[in-house]
Amino acid sequence: MISQELAILHGVDARSADIGTAAHDLARALDRSSLLSQAEKLGLDIGLVERHEPILLHGPVAARWLVSDDNDLGVEVLEAVARHTTGRTGMSDVAKVVFLADKLDPRKVARFPYLARVADMSKHSLDSAILEYLDRTIEYFLDNGNLVHPMSIEFRNELLVRTSE
Ligand SMILES: [Fe+2]
Repeated sequence: MISQELAILHGVDARSADIGTAAHDLARALDRSSLLSQAEKLGLDIGLVERHEPILLHGPVAARWLVSDDNDLGVEVLEAVARHTTGRTGMSDVAKVVFLADKLDPRKVARFPYLARVADMSKHSLDSAILEYLDRTIEYFLDNGNLVHPMSIEFRNELLVRTSE
């Protein structure tokens, strides 16, 4: 499992990373209108980008579903699930591992050549690998006239500053 390999390589709690990776797409099967209605019901923030691209709500909705009196998954796991699509500034290392494990799913790596470079970089630095991923995807979104989530831009800027210091 990629999340476990990355967690061990970078000294991150592998159990939390595995739980986050296993749970991250819990709400992925919901369609656009169901995601919006769930998000509204749960009182989640729905910004301009989420309103137009409700798929971005599947992480936040899943994280909220996972909050229960019967378990205590911890804030890092919940954050990892909530932000596995956009990322966000100040994200924990557990959340970074879950973020990368999702993007480096072997089926995705086989489909998108730039991910091989992200995979190589992830062995040395979580931050550099995520920065590379965000640079490439933001570039793609701009080239194709897509919306870019502000959290991804802020996260990219944070990583750029951090990795160049
Ligand atoms: Fe997802």
